[in-house]
Amino acid sequence: MVSLTITQPDDWHLHVRDGDALADIMSETTRCFARAIIMPNLNPPVTTTQQAEAYRQRIMLAIPDDVNFTPLMTLYLTDQTDPEEIELARASGFVHAVKYYPAGATTNSDSGVTDIRKTYNALQALSDNGIPLLIHGEVTDPNSDVFEREKLFIDQVLTQIIRDFPDLKIVLEHITTKHAVEFILAQSDNLAATITPHHLLYNRNAMFKGGIRPHYYCLPILKHEQHRLALVDAATSGNPKFFLGTDSAPHAVANKESSCGCAGIYNAPVAIELYTYIFEQAGALDKLEDFASLYGPRFYNLPTNTSELTLVKQSWTVPANKPLASETIIPLCNGEQLSWQVQT
Ligand code: DOR
Ligand code: ZN
Repeated sequence: MVSLTITQPDDWHLHVRDGDALADIMSETTRCFARAIIMPNLNPPVTTTQQAEAYRQRIMLAIPDDVNFTPLMTLYLTDQTDPEEIELARASGFVHAVKYYPAGATTNSDSGVTDIRKTYNALQALSDNGIPLLIHGEVTDPNSDVFEREKLFIDQVLTQIIRDFPDLKIVLEHITTKHAVEFILAQSDNLAATITPHHLLYNRNAMFKGGIRPHYYCLPILKHEQHRLALVDAATSGNPKFFLGTDSAPHAVANKESSCGCAGIYNAPVAIELYTYIFEQAGALDKLEDFASLYGPRFYNLPTNTSELTLVKQSWTVPANKPLASETIIPLCNGEQLSWQVQT
């Protein structure tokens, strides 16, 4: 049987929510990833190191004792974030980044930043402490075209942040466009990007195949095929600026299949399998370990995992749905056959 063994990967962008659903969600990530950057967009958001510690403990309680997993916590940047909070985060040892959501850009971003200039003292503290700023890179002007929002953000906001904070480490999260790839390649090593499995696998047609398909709706939204191809090239290029971040974002089925459905794709049950398939299709299986296991820790100045993960080429069928506490959730590729499987 064909198999592939790599250093155990990490997920550098993950939503695990909170409460009763935590255990179900965590089990999908801990089956293959050793660490994950945990997004802070809870309601209310995780804005302080103290809140991050409490959340970290709830996550650890949701994981069985014999599972080896480290949640890498983040803080949610607001107009009010105090530079002293950044110092506390640095001292904690468990907060590894701060997330910038433009207010109104996506799920639970209402408390996000209304004007990036209001956060300049906090950004200076991040830069001074070597803590990465993780960016949801979309403008929020409701009149802007939803497919153009990433490009507009890069041109109008990101360029300005990089100009004013050249030493700040930045991850432009879940990039979706050729423009983003080209921009990142043109900047210093302080700018990197995560790429999701769904943006590598699908273009915007997926949302409309035979009817409206809410389980393919996420933000930033899926783009034109030319952008997907640029993302595949970037991910499989062996350039350390691009690494794995699933942006797995669970929402119960009722909140997705609605007249105003939530943005977010639940890919944790299939993510590493899909990345493997994508790299195989691109003839770049030899670059998978770099992207999934080596370039993320390098950017975050963390050690590489010493454990390994084996994937076997063996077809399996993704369940039609999964339990999410007392509700149900539809994973990406539900009911489909996948060609790679994690060896248990
Ligand atoms: O599709 C998304 N879902 N994009 C985000 O930025 C947030 C996420 C979520 O939290 O559901
Ligand atoms: Zn996200």
